[in-house]
Formats: sequence, structure tokens, C-alpha cells
Amino acid sequence: MNSEDREQQPLSPAHHHLRRRNNYMKRVEAAVSKPKAYVVLLIAVFILGYLSHSHPLLSQTASDVHEHNSFPEECGQPVHHRDVRRTIEERVFNGSSPWAGFPPEHVKPLLWQEWNKGWGSNAAVFEHLIDQVRPKTIIEVGTFLGASATHMAALTKKLGLETQIVCIDDFRGWPGYYDEEKSLKMVNGDSLLMYQFMQNVVKANASESIIMLPFSAATALGGLCDWGVYGDLVEVDAAHDFHSAWVDINHAFKVLKRPRGVLFGHDYAWEGVRKAVHIFARLHGFQVRIDGEHWILY
Ligand SMILES: C[S@@+](CC[C@H](N)C(=O)[O-])C[C@H]1O[C@@H](n2cnc3c(N)ncnc32)[C@H](O)[C@@H]1O
Ligand SMILES: *[C@@H]1O[C@H](CO)[C@@H](O)[C@H](O)[C@H]1NC(C)=O
Ligand SMILES: *[C@@H]1O[C@H](CO)[C@@H](O)[C@H](O)[C@H]1NC(C)=O
Repeated sequence: MNSEDREQQPLSPAHHHLRRRNNYMKRVEAAVSKPKAYVVLLIAVFILGYLSHSHPLLSQTASDVHEHNSFPEECGQPVHHRDVRRTIEERVFNGSSPWAGFPPEHVKPLLWQEWNKGWGSNAAVFEHLIDQVRPKTIIEVGTFLGASATHMAALTKKLGLETQIVCIDDFRGWPGYYDEEKSLKMVNGDSLLMYQFMQNVVKANASESIIMLPFSAATALGGLCDWGVYGDLVEVDAAHDFHSAWVDINHAFKVLKRPRGVLFGHDYAWEGVRKAVHIFARLHGFQVRIDGEHWILY
């Protein structure tokens, strides 16, 4: 039965109801044909869409958040600072110095005599903190060609400290890494960054005070944590996106000798770094101090 047929029927209470409904539908149709109503409808659809889309976020539990923020509670029994180098040689380099016989004949002609490219690597913050802390062990996360590491080695020597500097870097640079003006030749996909770093350290006469851990930041810091190698100074200068900085800072803090050790890092101007530093400081009750381009927790 269509509505026109119904119009011709005698009126009953049921028909009154039908007619009211038809009138109501007509009013709705008329309203929807107005631009204002369209806007209201659109907004309603957006809000519904937004609410259903953001649902997974709303369902994140406190334990998810806790998991995200939990890093190893405790590291190994601390080794004496005089045993730091031997510990790393034994654990990583099969009991010998990675500098023995460096550079190998086949690598020598591929390297620059010296190439100390860096970013803020001679900044005053290094001297400030080394004077203040007089560190026996320094851990640097993100070393590149060793510019900041050799600078720190010179500073500690000047003060007559017997400091070991542990340099963590995967020596890959970053995807697409290529230095325009002075790039090393790649050898079958290897950018030779580790060898050039080693050459720079030898050139700076610092191979006795510097040793590297050529792994990703997280696994290298995990190793130091397990072995009980702690730093009086721990510097974070690897990748600068929020998630990398967040993970590096949390792992680095575990191997900071407390209470006297100082955790600091480069590139406070990067938004990801800044956010990670401030969240970390808030969670652990630190203040953030700025020294040039560096951040320091105290
Ligand atoms: C800005 S450079 C370090 C510069 C150095 N501190 C200086 O002043 O000369 C960053 C370094 O971090 C390293 N890096 C980035 N992410 C890393 C990761 N997840 N694990 C290990 N090294 C990483 C890169 O290979 C690069 O050499
Ligand atoms: C480790 O050192 C031992 C003896 O010092 C040697 O026999 C062995 O081949 C070395 N292993 C590697 C992987 O270099
Ligand atoms: C190199 O460093 C060693 C100690 O690490 C020192 O005995 C030596 O005199 C230094 N040589 C130069 C040329 O600086």
C-alpha cells in the first residue's frame, strides 16, 4: 500500500498517526535541505567518526603505560674503574685490544689521516662537566668520528685523570649517510666510519683512553648494565627523534654512577630530544640546565 492509497482511506486513529509521521518526515526533509542543517549534520558525523577512531587510545591501560616507561631496575655489581677497559676487551674483543695492529694494511689506503667532523664537539660544556665531576669513566652514546670523544680525552689528560671513555656507536651514521665534500669510499656497502673513527683516535694519541662498543645504543647500554660498567659522566648524542632519545636517555640513566654522576646530552634544540629530556626529568625529579646546545640533568 503506498501513501496515496492511504490518503484516500477513511480516517482512523492509526491513519492520524501515519499522517503525523508523514508530516514530520516532510519537515525533516525541508530542514535537511537548508545549508545550516547540513553543517550540523557534518559536524555530528565528524564527532562520531573521531570518537570511534580514537577508541584504541582510550582503551590504553595504566599497565600499558607502565610497561612503556619501565627500563631495567638494576644493573650488575659495579666493576672498579680500572677494570672497565679490560671488562670490555674481554666481553667484546675476545680478550685483546681492538687497537692492536691498527690500521690493517688493506684499510690504511682507504682512510683519511685525520677527519674530525662533528657537531658542537668542542663545546665548553665538556670542560665544565669534566672539571666539576673529574670522571674516571665516561660513556658516550653517539660518537660518529670521535670529535667529542677525543676532545674529552684531551681534557681529562690535562687534569691528569686516568679516564676511560667508552664510545657507543653502530658506526653506520644514518640511512643515506654520505658526506658530500669528504666522503670515505664505501666498501661493499660499509661506510668505514668505525675505521675512520679509530684512525682519528690514534691520530689524537688517545687510543689508550678510548674504547668503542660498535653496537646499537640499546644493546650496548644493556651490555654495560649487565657487566656493571657505570659512567661518572654519561652523554647522549645519538638519534634525535623523540622515541630514540627517550629510550637512550632511560638506558643511559641505568649506567650512570649515582649520586655524583651527571647525565647530559646534545641538541636540546631538537623537539624530540627536548620532549624526552623534560618527561624524563619530571618522572625522576631532575632539573634541566642548559649549557650552549647541551642539556644537563641535575
Ligand atoms: C650526532 S652524531 C654524534 C656526534 C659526536 N658526539 C660528536 O660530537 O662528534 C650521532 C651518531 O649516533 C649514531 N647513532 C644513531 N642512532 C644510533 C643507535 N640507535 N645506536 C648506535 N648509534 C647510533 C650515528 O651512527 C652517529 O654516528
Ligand atoms: C679468540 O682468542 C683465542 C685465543 O686467544 C683464539 O684462539 C680465537 O681464535 C679467538 N677468536 C676469535 C673469534 O677471534
Ligand atoms: C701519547 O699519550 C701517551 C699516554 O697515553 C703519552 O705517554 C705520550 O707522551 C703521548 N704522545 C704524544 C706525542 O702526545
